[in-house]
Amino acid sequence: MEYENQEVAKAAESLRRKLKSLEDKRLIVRDPALTALYDRLKTLPPGKDRASFGKEVNGLKNELQQLARDSRQPAETKLPPIDVTAPFNMNVAPTDRPKLLPATQGTRHPLMAELSEVLDIFYRMGFDAVESREIDDDYHMFTSLNFPPDHPARDEYDTFMTDDGLIAPAHTSIMQNRVMRRYKKDLEAGQGIRVVIPGRVFRNEDLDARHEHTFYQLEGVYVDEGINAGNLVATIRAWLSNYFGKEVKIKIQPFYFPFTEPSFEFAASCPFCEEKGCNVCSYTGWIELGGCGMIHPNVLKEADIDAKKYSGFAWGFGIDRLVMLKYNIEDVRHFESANLKFLRQFK
Ligand code: DAH
Repeated sequence: MEYENQEVAKAAESLRRKLKSLEDKRLIVRDPALTALYDRLKTLPPGKDRASFGKEVNGLKNELQQLARDSRQPAETKLPPIDVTAPFNMNVAPTDRPKLLPATQGTRHPLMAELSEVLDIFYRMGFDAVESREIDDDYHMFTSLNFPPDHPARDEYDTFMTDDGLIAPAHTSIMQNRVMRRYKKDLEAGQGIRVVIPGRVFRNEDLDARHEHTFYQLEGVYVDEGINAGNLVATIRAWLSNYFGKEVKIKIQPFYFPFTEPSFEFAASCPFCEEKGCNVCSYTGWIELGGCGMIHPNVLKEADIDAKKYSGFAWGFGIDRLVMLKYNIEDVRHFESANLKFLRQFK
């Protein structure tokens, strides 16, 4: 903008220069050079000169405000747009790659971090790990596990089903048949089958502090010659004591599952109160962890394993329960809540 009045034109030139060096550009309108012009305006007698001088001084002020506003545009908008979906060009040195969006560092979900701990324990005990799956069929969910058609035990596993009969698995036992078939060669070579199977499972539950529609289980399958329930108890006790870092007492009581015979429900002594009773264990001293038992001969046969020669045990425990116990988490629903306040505690 051009100013006719010499005084205003001179001030404009120096103020524009000054604006560039100002950190807070808004301060330019309080610059003494501008206020001096307004002071001078007040001294002029009313008339044409005063009016045109005033118009020019106001014009200069508006110009400076506009310049200040323009330069306050966030720096990012001046950068070329970033395509966040574009792949990295690995032939370009990291320092020469375009800057991506600023990211704060995330953390592993507590369930995943604890699951790795649990798997580490089993690796040391000679187990393999195989991942479960999140969609399955009736055969693996029920039939392969010795649930007769229309048997009422199926009602215990009320989950979600697609219109064409696919099932969101209600337990990781869906993998038993697959794992036994996959490791049958090892079994026959005299090495036994020792596999743990972590996975996400789904249930049509009434939700409360201990029940969630989605949670994690760890299935275990152990098959060899001459395996008995004592081996089952010893294996699980070794795992839990290792995980909690101290000897954990266990309690098993008879239960019913179609895929094991005998079947047990498994409880561990509450690691917080040592059986005295506390709010974590609902003052019983014990915490239910899951089911287990000796694999039913029909389940072995369905996987083409000679049930006369081999026997085995299996279990299915809730990982969420275990982690709740370890960290004194009072509500299972925190895990799926995506609540950052909860998650950040596990950094
Ligand atoms: N699948 C059972 C459940 O989710 C738990 C279970 C019980 C798994 C006994 C097993 C087992 O492998 O042998 O309720």
